[in-house]
Amino acid sequence: NRRVRAGLLGLGTVGSGFIKALAQNGESIRQRTGCEIEIPYILVRNPSKERNVKVKPEQITTDPGVILSSTDIPVVIEVMGGIEPARTIILSALRAGKHVITANKELLAKHGPELLRAAEESGVQLLFEASVAGGIPVIRFLQGYLTANRVHEVSGILNGTTNYILTQMEQTGQSFAEVLAKAQELGYAEADPTSDVEGFDAAYKLAILTNLAYDVQVSPYEIPREGITSIQPLDLKWAREFGYVIKLIGRSRRTEAGIDVSVGPVLLPMSHPLARVNDVFNAVTISGDVVGDLTFIGKGAGEYPTASAVLEDLTALLRQPGQVLRSPNWETPVYPDVNQEAVR
Ligand code: NAP
Ligand code: HSE
Repeated sequence: NRRVRAGLLGLGTVGSGFIKALAQNGESIRQRTGCEIEIPYILVRNPSKERNVKVKPEQITTDPGVILSSTDIPVVIEVMGGIEPARTIILSALRAGKHVITANKELLAKHGPELLRAAEESGVQLLFEASVAGGIPVIRFLQGYLTANRVHEVSGILNGTTNYILTQMEQTGQSFAEVLAKAQELGYAEADPTSDVEGFDAAYKLAILTNLAYDVQVSPYEIPREGITSIQPLDLKWAREFGYVIKLIGRSRRTEAGIDVSVGPVLLPMSHPLARVNDVFNAVTISGDVVGDLTFIGKGAGEYPTASAVLEDLTALLRQPGQVLRSPNWETPVYPDVNQEAVR
């Protein structure tokens, strides 16, 4: 057996889920990959915080340098979130020749090309299955499988928190604030839930999917976006009376004029396949010119589904460290006239 040491950045919802899932399935992973995974260091902000996961005190650190400078740590797993210091740490890890696995959709959507270039220059992998739709392997599908098709549309429910809120408001009549608090308690929401409820999180995910699907570079700032904060329980009730449900849908499609992208609440007839995708579940439909429509449904947020995606990225690296996935090409802006700096 080979021993592989990975540095973990973050021990919140996803980091804790990862540690628990590894404890649960470490032995079967060892049997399948021939590798024993060790986590010598875990980066946190507050080392004295009470944790709901068992780790040794000597694993906890507040210094990313101990992970970056260790030559016997070939993999870094970033589940801390935010742009900085995550961006700088990931770039340093990639430049030091370490593979990086990340769940950070905001960072990928805003700085994906820079990170992917750094990975390519160092000949290492940047894997990000957990960044979109939690446990659904949609990144693997787009990046590792769908090469012979021309994708013409990607659409779906890309945010678990808002789908949970809309479902619960409709089914229980509870207020927006009450169900948002519950989504936060369940670990579905972002550290700042504005990102979920105003549609930013779905826009980050849609940017990532769009860039992979069409080999382009759409920035999240270019995606017209509307959240769910103005939707009242009464809107959901009336929609239901007319045979509709309201879902927050992200959609990109190839048109003659280019790539059309948007995120916003949509009225779906009850007969629509996505109308019955409820609570924390996400769904992604990818339409290819040869294969037709493929729809994936699964839990889109929460510690275990997201940890599953992170752990699958890690085991993919262990099985096939050379080239897990096709190198994404995110260098061609779809809207070249937009001044990115001005938009930011
Ligand atoms: P979280 O619960 O807020 O945990 C963040 C962790 O990172 C905490 O352990 C925190 O340390 C640590 N951290 C944050 N900033 C730090 C800094 N500057 N220095 C050192 N440590 C720092 O977040 P989460 O829900 O696990 O999400 C993590 C990432 O996964 C985010 O990018 C998120 O968008 C993504 N994601 C989340 C989900 C989900 O369902 N929650 C699903 C998919 C993707 P302390 O514990 O000491 O505060
Ligand atoms: N806050 C995100 C959501 C986490 O609710 O979908 C998963 O990316």
